[in-house]
Amino acid sequence: MNPPPSPTVQPADGRLGVLTVGLGAVASTLIAGVELVKRGLAQPIGSLALMDTIRLGKRTDDRHPFIRDFVPLAPLDDIVFGAWDPFPDDAYVAAQRAGVLEGGKHIEQVSEALRDVRPMPAAFDRTYVKNIDADNVQASIDKRSMLNAIREDINRFREEKQVDRVVMLWAASTEIFIEPGPAHMDLESFEKAIDANDPTIAPSMLYAYAALLEGVPFNNGAPNLAVDTPVLRQLATERNVPISGKDFKTGQTLVKTVLAPMLKARMLGLSGWYSTNILGNRDGEVLDDPDNFKTKEESKLGVLEDILQPDRFPELYGDIFHKVRINYYPPRGDNKEGWDNIDIFGWLGYPMQIKVDFLCRDSILAAPLALDLVLFSDLAQRAGLGGIQEWLSFYYKSPQVAPGLYPEHDLFTQLVKLKNTLRWLMGEDQITHLGREYYAAV
Ligand SMILES: NC(=O)c1ccc[n+]([C@@H]2O[C@H](COP(=O)([O-])OP(=O)(O)OC[C@H]3O[C@@H](n4cnc5c(N)ncnc54)[C@H](O)[C@@H]3O)[C@@H](O)[C@H]2O)c1
Repeated sequence: MNPPPSPTVQPADGRLGVLTVGLGAVASTLIAGVELVKRGLAQPIGSLALMDTIRLGKRTDDRHPFIRDFVPLAPLDDIVFGAWDPFPDDAYVAAQRAGVLEGGKHIEQVSEALRDVRPMPAAFDRTYVKNIDADNVQASIDKRSMLNAIREDINRFREEKQVDRVVMLWAASTEIFIEPGPAHMDLESFEKAIDANDPTIAPSMLYAYAALLEGVPFNNGAPNLAVDTPVLRQLATERNVPISGKDFKTGQTLVKTVLAPMLKARMLGLSGWYSTNILGNRDGEVLDDPDNFKTKEESKLGVLEDILQPDRFPELYGDIFHKVRINYYPPRGDNKEGWDNIDIFGWLGYPMQIKVDFLCRDSILAAPLALDLVLFSDLAQRAGLGGIQEWLSFYYKSPQVAPGLYPEHDLFTQLVKLKNTLRWLMGEDQITHLGREYYAAV
């Protein structure tokens, strides 16, 4: 099937406002990193948008521009940050508290810019994040008032910072587990539920709703539902506002979505996958609460089943023991350790094991994903692409997809999809990897 005609992409003129919900480890590492890169003091390592190239045309054409030169992305110099957080710390203090970046080497060099990002009072309700107790919050937890206040904040930010476009990123704590229910089905029920202070309307949904009403793309770095409900998906499509989520794919799940497709590609069997983590940052503290952990667990568990398709391959994947644990261990701070013990079997059923011990840095892995999501969701908006941006699945543990579709988790399939979308946006041919043309004359 031929792709639909390529859209016209508006140029990235003017300033881009980036509003982060949450000014914790990920957001402060993102902001500090962008400010350092702007000044030529660091490289945006891990950002596909800024570091990778894209092949165009045939392999013999030798066309490999940088993505940043191929698609019109907002220049980092045009980015202005704003944030909400229940803690009053500005981005400078938040970065120091998070303990991700070295003070002398990285934080002090951009201290002025970081001091400038002072969080607005958060639409926060402890019912949804019990392990956080802070007072830079809106005066009321009445849901209608919270929604209105978020909308006012967006507009005030627009005016004060003189930005031409805005994108929003949920980099706030993981909320308690909520399943889509009657309140999330259509606009009428959703509006009524807001007025009734229905407990199934979490603050993340109010931020997402406010973003859509204000025409602001919304990206969800955490596993809570936020914009992933029928009502908000529909609204995003109707209003032509890009949305994407959920849950940054950083450490252990990144590795899982590379190894599991490898097993599947070779038709090797899997009997068990035990994943455990220790981490000691604020995120770990929030996830120490079982109700918040449940949201994360669901996001991490779905991956294997979607990749391995046990229904289609019962001999290989019909009986997998899959366990994911997250243990709060303060001495490690943001430097998470993720262990995987993988029990596999091969020819004639003989067992083998794979062990992975990833000593990673959570926010160092997440910050470039957050940056790419900001740049690409702004690009999507300028290309007139509203609703779910499945091509951004590359960045997420639980990619949002159209109802009835299963998510594509394989990292390299996601990468092909992302790059083909960029080719399509710019009117270039899709790359199918068929390659018959190279052998016509051989
Ligand atoms: N770092 C990673 O590798 C990674 C990977 C996947 C997902 N995530 C998710 O990203 C999110 C951010 O991670 P982090 O390490 O920066 O956590 P963090 O705890 O350092 O920061 C989150 C901040 O959000 C604030 N917050 C909570 N509720 C809020 C609300 N309603 N409005 C505004 N702010 C609110 C908290 O006060 C906190 O400062 C978490 O949900 C985490 O699970 C992180």
